[in-house]
Order: sequence, then C-alpha cells, then structure tokens
Amino acid sequence: MALAKKTVFLFCYILCITSNFGLNFRPVFAQTPAFACDVSSNPGLKNFSFCDVSLDVKTRVDDLVNRLTLQEKIGFVVNGAKGVSSLGIPNYEWWSEALHGVSYTGPGVKFTSLVPGATSFPQVLLTGATFNESLFELIGKVVSTEARAIWGRGQETPGEDPVLSSKYGAAYVRGLQQRDDGDKDRLKVGACCKHYTAYDVDNWKGNLRYNFNAVVTQQDLDDTFQPPFKSCVLDGNVASVMCSYNQVNGKPTCGDYDLLAGVIRGQWKLNGYIVSDCDSLKEIFYSQHYTKTPEETAALAIKSGLDLNCGSFLTDHTQAAIDRGLLNETDINKAISNNFATLMRLGFFDGDPSKQLYGNLGPKDVCTPANQELAREVAREGIVLLKNTEGSLPLSPDCHQILGSNRSKC
Ligand SMILES: *[C@@H]1O[C@H](CO)[C@@H](O)[C@H](O)[C@H]1NC(C)=O
Ligand SMILES: *[C@@H]1O[C@H](CO)[C@@H](O)[C@H](O)[C@H]1NC(C)=O
Ligand SMILES: *[C@@H]1O[C@H](CO)[C@@H](O)[C@H](O)[C@H]1NC(C)=O
Ligand SMILES: *[C@@H]1O[C@H](CO)[C@@H](O)[C@H](O)[C@H]1NC(C)=O
Repeated sequence: MALAKKTVFLFCYILCITSNFGLNFRPVFAQTPAFACDVSSNPGLKNFSFCDVSLDVKTRVDDLVNRLTLQEKIGFVVNGAKGVSSLGIPNYEWWSEALHGVSYTGPGVKFTSLVPGATSFPQVLLTGATFNESLFELIGKVVSTEARAIWGRGQETPGEDPVLSSKYGAAYVRGLQQRDDGDKDRLKVGACCKHYTAYDVDNWKGNLRYNFNAVVTQQDLDDTFQPPFKSCVLDGNVASVMCSYNQVNGKPTCGDYDLLAGVIRGQWKLNGYIVSDCDSLKEIFYSQHYTKTPEETAALAIKSGLDLNCGSFLTDHTQAAIDRGLLNETDINKAISNNFATLMRLGFFDGDPSKQLYGNLGPKDVCTPANQELAREVAREGIVLLKNTEGSLPLSPDCHQILGSNRSKC
C-alpha cells in the first residue's frame, strides 16, 4: 500500500516536471538548497534559462526576474537577500568586508576554529604610502583568494591625494575581481567602492556623519572627491558603489538622482549595482527629515538609481511605496536585475561551486606564508618617518641607503 502511494507521487512529480516548463511552473523542493541551480539533484532546474551557463547574463537575469512574484523581488533589494526555495535559490548575504584583508565585520564572513582569521595587511594609509600600484593589485589578489576560501575598518582611506587614491582603488579592485582564467566579464569577487561622496566627517564638533550636509563646489567635487570613484568604476570596473549617509549640497547621496543614475550609472556606466550604507535610507527619513514618509524615502532612493539596501528599510517599506503609487514593479525589476547580473557574473547560478574555478579553495589557502610575507613587504615599503630625530631629513645626495641610514654617517 505504502509502495503504491509512493509510486503515484513519483509519477506525478515526473509528470509535473516534464509537462510544465512555462515561466510560472515551479518544481517542489523540500528545503532551502545548499547552492543555486543544483541541476544534478533537481533535474527540473535544467528547464530554467537562468541556470543555463551557456546563455548570456542578460538573458539569464531576465528569465529569473520574470519568474519571481513581487514579494519575492522585494526580498532581493536588501543585503540579507531571501532565497526562493521553489526555484532552488538559497539565501544570499551581500555584506562582507575586506578593507585590508578579509574581515569579520559584516554578517557575510564568520571565522571558525578551522579558519580563525585571515591575512591582515597594513592599514590602507600605510599601503598608500608605498606608492606602489602593483603592490595594491597583489594585495587585492590575495584578499579575493582568501575571501573565496572562506566564502563568506577604521581608517578607510589610502590618503588625501586624489591621484594616489584613484590608482589605489583601481589596482586594488582589479586584484580583487580579476579571474585567473582571463574571463573579463566574470568576477572572482564583487568589490564595492565606498562611501560615495564627499564623506569626510564621522563625528566632528557635533557634526554626525548620519546627517552632515557637505557643501561642496562642483570644482572641488570634480578635483577632490569624485576622481577615486570615477577611477574605481572606469579603470577598476568595480561591481558596486555604495552611497554614503551624508548630504551633498542639501541632498542625501542615496536619494540624489544626479549623483547615482546621472553620474555613476549614466556617465561612468557602472557594470553592477548601487548599494546604500547601513542604513542610509533610515537616516534620510528619521535623522535628516528630508522626506515626509518612509514610503517616499524608499521610492526616492530606488528612483534615484539605488539597487540594494544594506539594512531592512526596503523590506519594510517597498510594498507600501508601490501600493501608494510611488513606485512600480518595473522600478523593482531594474534594481534586482543589476543585483542578479552581479550574482551571475560570480557564478552563483552556475550550480555546484566545487566544479567551478575557485570552488575548491579552503583553509589551506588562508594566511599562507606567501600571503603573510606580502603583508610584511607592504609594511616595509610603506613605512613613513613620523619624527625627524637624529636629523634623518633632509636626505643627503651622498646617502644611498634610505631605510636604516644614520645620517651622521653619510
Ligand atoms: C525540460 O526538462 C525535460 C526533462 O529534463 C526535458 O525533456 C525538456 O526538454 C525540458 N524542456 C525545456 C524547455 O528545456
Ligand atoms: C612594488 O611591489 C612589487 C611587488 O611586491 C615589487 O616587486 C617592487 O619591487 C615594488 N616596487 C618598488 C619601487 O618598491
Ligand atoms: C513605472 O514607472 C516608470 C517611471 O519611474 C515608468 O517609466 C514606467 O512606464 C512605469 N511602468 C509601469 C508598468 O507602469
Ligand atoms: C648614528 O651614529 C652616531 C655616530 O656614529 C651615533 O652616536 C648614533 O647613536 C647613531 N644613531 C643610530 C640611531 O644608530
């Protein structure tokens, strides 16, 4: 009897798979899968173009977006993206950090007894002081390898010089993102350049970063604040830019159409997604009082070009913004398409990670002696004289050895 029931169920299951491959058909998966597009365990997924690695990214993204309900779509505009088990898609955590080595700041990385930490490079201010572009890129390469092996701040600037910061950003991002198989459109990791823009104040003389209004001339923007971001997008081909908390000339950066859709997407042609700081949108409403309602805030940000919200503001207010006619599903499709395209380029929808490039990295690839040595080299190359004791400066032309020299011997 039990056997007969099972047979009926199985028959029905196979029938369902083979006879329904329209956009709305979904095979039934018992639980959240370990990875997306697991076609060997669930052959029904083969019928989904978004799992087809032979298709281009846009075709796959469009197919995926078409299969989602509005509620599911809204699950993909926040950092803790909610998977869709009926489509074989697990949850995804967008937030992890690697300013100078993979860090446990952000829920995307968890160190364990097996991997208690990652190679820690010097603070970027010191790395900047090496003025060595090939070193910037090498660090990025090590960090992306360790990040993929783990899978998963403070002084966040390489300096005040826009030229050096631009070179640093582009080289570090190239090191992070570029794959060893030379495939230019695909990503090893997706990097994010932050925080855009004119974001210099944390907590200074009563001015808080959450609501500070940076009054900046166009010339200063173009000469000082924008070049590192521009270079990060144009020369580094970064996958993401994060808008900051502050306002620039009276407008919150995450709600400024000109800065997001106009400059990043329009002029610089970002190939990726724009993400808010955590939680910039909440601050626009609660601390800056820039908008009248949370729904208006959600609509302003998405219509300005924001694709992903670090935090839960868009989980809470997107549906209501749509219900009030401030946003529509087309706006949401645009945002999640940029997010999904990035995941496609990372191989998230390419099935079994262990069959992909970088899928077999593990604890043995973290904190290797070579990685540690590179961190030491950066420290050595970036060391800066803070106090001129012993008359070390000015250097004499007769002094050939700079480091470790004793001027009185020159
Ligand atoms: C769907 O999957 C079945 C079984 O794997 C296959 O026979 C069929 O051709 C597929 N349909 C499409 C549209 O790929
Ligand atoms: C820059 O870094 C590279 C890579 O570590 C190193 O080979 C090179 O000697 C460095 N350049 C200078 C000028 O120190
Ligand atoms: C959604 O709104 C945009 C403007 O933001 C408009 O261009 C588009 O036609 C609207 N789409 C629908 C389906 O109403
Ligand atoms: C530098 O050389 C002078 C004279 O030889 C010596 O007195 C001094 O201690 C040396 N300083 C260092 C830091 O080695």
